[in-house]
Amino acid sequence: MDFVISIDLKAALPLYRQVYAQLRQAILSRRLTPGKKLPSTRTLAQLLSVSRTTVTQSYEMLLSEGYLETIVGSGTFVCRQLPDELLNITPIQPKSQLPHSSISLSTYGESLSDRAFLHLPEAEVEISFSYGRPAFDQFPIDLWRKLLSRHCRFSRYVLDYTYDSMGYQPLKEAIADYLSRSRAVKCKPEQIIIVAGSQQGLDLITRVLIDRGDWIAVEEPGYLSARRAFLAQGASLFPISVDQSGLIVSSLTTNIIPNIKFVYVTPSHQFPTGATLSLSRRLELLAWAHKSGTMIIEDDYDSEYRYGERPIPALQGLDQANSVIYLGTFSKVLFPALRLGYLVLPQNLVHIFARAKWLADRQCSLLEQYALTDFITEGHLERHIRRMRALYDQRRQTLVQSLFSYFGDKIEISGENAGMHLMVKINTELTDDKIVHLAALAGVSIGAAYPQYLKHSPGSEFILGYAELNEQKIQEGVRRLAQVILID
Ligand SMILES: Cc1ncc(COP(=O)(O)O)c(C=O)c1O
Repeated sequence: MDFVISIDLKAALPLYRQVYAQLRQAILSRRLTPGKKLPSTRTLAQLLSVSRTTVTQSYEMLLSEGYLETIVGSGTFVCRQLPDELLNITPIQPKSQLPHSSISLSTYGESLSDRAFLHLPEAEVEISFSYGRPAFDQFPIDLWRKLLSRHCRFSRYVLDYTYDSMGYQPLKEAIADYLSRSRAVKCKPEQIIIVAGSQQGLDLITRVLIDRGDWIAVEEPGYLSARRAFLAQGASLFPISVDQSGLIVSSLTTNIIPNIKFVYVTPSHQFPTGATLSLSRRLELLAWAHKSGTMIIEDDYDSEYRYGERPIPALQGLDQANSVIYLGTFSKVLFPALRLGYLVLPQNLVHIFARAKWLADRQCSLLEQYALTDFITEGHLERHIRRMRALYDQRRQTLVQSLFSYFGDKIEISGENAGMHLMVKINTELTDDKIVHLAALAGVSIGAAYPQYLKHSPGSEFILGYAELNEQKIQEGVRRLAQVILID
C-alpha cells in the first residue's frame, strides 16, 4: 500500500478500530482510490504486526459501510461505486446524517449510530473462550430434526398467522410447569409470552414501559445488550455496584437517587461477575421495590447451570406484589439461533405486551414452537440440561485448575459456581486490549470485561466461556494465555 497505517498499542481505541479509521480516512481523502485492491488480511496483518482478527474486523466494518467490496476469487477492493458525496464528506459526520444519503435519523436511529454498536462477526480462532455459547456438538440434532419433521406437514395451522401473538398455548403450559418445578416461578401459562430470545423481551419491555428520561438502575458491571436496549429508548441509567453476593441492594435503599422506574438484575448468575444474589438481598430488593413502586426485570439467562450449590428461588417466585417481570431464554440450554425465549408478566400487562409483540413481528415461528413443546413435554429438555450440567461442571473444573496451575497467585477467579462462564482478574501491567491482541496472535480469543461497565472499569478483568471447549482445548488455551501474558 502507498501509505502507512500506524498502530498505537497503548491507545484506548481497539486496534481494529485504529486500522478501520485510517483505511476509511485514506479512502475519503482518495489516497486509496475506487477500485484499488487491498492487501489480503493475512498480508496486512503481517505488515502491521497485528493479528489477522484485527484486520478482518476492520475490513468487515468497511465492507458493511460500503467503503470496500469483495470480488469472489479476486480479493478486496475500494468500492467502485463510491458516491461522490461520500468522498467529499469530512470524517466527522454531521449529526443525524446517514453516510449514504441526507435522510435524518430518528432519535432511536441516532442512538444506534455510535460505531461501538457494530456487532462484528467473531473471527475464526483455534481456541475461543467467547462466552454464552453452549456445547453445540452435544445438541441432539437428530432428535430435533425428527421433532421438526413431525410437525412439518401441509396444514394451515403450521403455515398461517395464528392471531395469537403470545405464543403456542401448549408451549406456554410446558414452560409454566418447567419454571415452577425448576425455578419456583409462580405463574399461569396465560402470563407467559413467547419472544424471539431475551433480547426481544428486553426490547418489548422498553417499548411498552419505558419513556425517554425514565431512570433504570442497572448492575455495574452489567449486561451491555440490556443497557443498549434501555439507552436506545432514551432511558437514563443508574449504575449500582455488585459484590460477591450480587447487586448491593443497600445502595438503592439508602442513597439519594432519582426516581427509579425499573431495576434490571441477573440474580442467578450476575453478568459478567457470576455472583449469585443472596436470599437476604433478594428479599431486601423485593421489599424496596414494593415500597418504592419500582418494577424489577429479572433476567435468568443461564440459571439452569448451578454446580454444587442449591439454587435460590427466582425473585419472581418470592415476590408478593407483582413487581417482577421474569425473562428466560432457550439460547443457553438449547442453541441461540433458535431465537426462542419467554417473558413472565404480571397479569395486568399481558394484553398490552401481546399487542406490542404483534406489531413487532406478529409471532415466533410456529414450527419451532411445536418442536420445542414436544422437546419439553417428552422430557428431553431436562435430560439434556442434566447431561450438560455434568459436562460443563467438568469443563469448569478443568478451567479453574488450569488457571490456578498456570497463573498461580497472579489470578483471581469469580463466578465459577454457576452458568457457562467465569470471570478472572489478572495481575498484570499489560492493557486489556494488548492482552486480547496477544491472545489472538496465539490463536486464543478472550473477551475483556470493560465494555460491560457503564462507568469506570478497574481493568484486567476477562470473561472466559468454557461450555463449548473440551478439556484439552481449555488446558491448551490457558497455557497459551499464560505464555503470552506472563512472559510479555
Ligand atoms: C445477561 C444475558 N441475558 C440474556 C442473554 C441471552 O440473550 P438471547 O436470549 O437474546 O440470546 C445473554 C446472552 O449472552 C446474557 O448474557
